[in-house]
Order: sequence, then structure tokens, then C-alpha cells
Amino acid sequence: MTHASDGGPLIPTGSGVIDAEHGAILDLLSAMTAGGPFGLAELAALRREVAEHFATETREMAVLAAERRERHEHAHRSYLASIDALIATAERGDPLAGDDANRLMLWFIVHSNTADTALVEASRQTGDEPPMISMDDWLDSLDEADRDVLRS
Ligand SMILES: [Fe+2]
Ligand SMILES: [Fe+2]
Repeated sequence: MTHASDGGPLIPTGSGVIDAEHGAILDLLSAMTAGGPFGLAELAALRREVAEHFATETREMAVLAAERRERHEHAHRSYLASIDALIATAERGDPLAGDDANRLMLWFIVHSNTADTALVEASRQTGDEPPMISMDDWLDSLDEADRDVLRS
């Protein structure tokens, strides 16, 4: 099995939780692209794992600005839609192509190594910013005498 920590195609993002989930998803994709079974059961398992992982990332990126979160979530929704389209194909009994699995793998590697690493980095920087203290809260924390002097 290939994991990011084994020097596989995934760059560690810096988040242990996200990297572990990436590793599990990569294992599923690797089995599909290596000629293993590729049908409804595998796609359903992948979708479950990916949806859970995207929920993890949504929690991680809560500190980011709305516009940035929306861009990332849009990419996630597109990927889930691609998996859903393949699930629909399999449900109709139509054949799936090896290229379909390769495309799922390629998107996942590129997204993980670019958008996700940037996400973890940006979340970390935002999280490291010292909290803004309002002047009123700060004044309220002072002894009454000091407060009166500063407010006068
Ligand atoms: Fe990810
Ligand atoms: Fe992501």
C-alpha cells in the first residue's frame, strides 16, 4: 500500500488527520487503477470515504474567509459529482473505463498536493494570529481606578 509517509505521490499537508484520510483514499484509488475491481461497490466505498474526508476539511477551513472556503468546497462538490456520475453509469449497467479511475486518481493527487496543502498552511497561519482584543474589553479588565484614568 502507498501512503504519503512512504514517499508515495502525496505531499504531506502538515495535518496528521488530513494526511491519514488522504492515505486511506489513495489506497482505494490505487486498488482501482492497478486493475483491481472497479464497480459500484468500489465507487460507493470511495464516495463514503471522500465525503467524510471533505467534511474533515470543511471543519479545518472554518477559520478561512468565506470566498476562499467556497472555492475549495466548489472543487469538492465537483469531485463528488464526478464520482456520482460514475456510480450512475455503474447502476445503469454501463461499462466503466480504466481511464475513469485514472482521472479520479489524478484529480485527487493534484488537489491534495496543491489546494489541500495551501488550505492547511492558510488555516494554520490564520489560527496563529493573536486574538484581537477590543479596547472596551481591555478597559473592563482593568482595576476601576486605572480604568477611570484611561477613560477620562
Ligand atoms: Fe483532501
Ligand atoms: Fe480539499
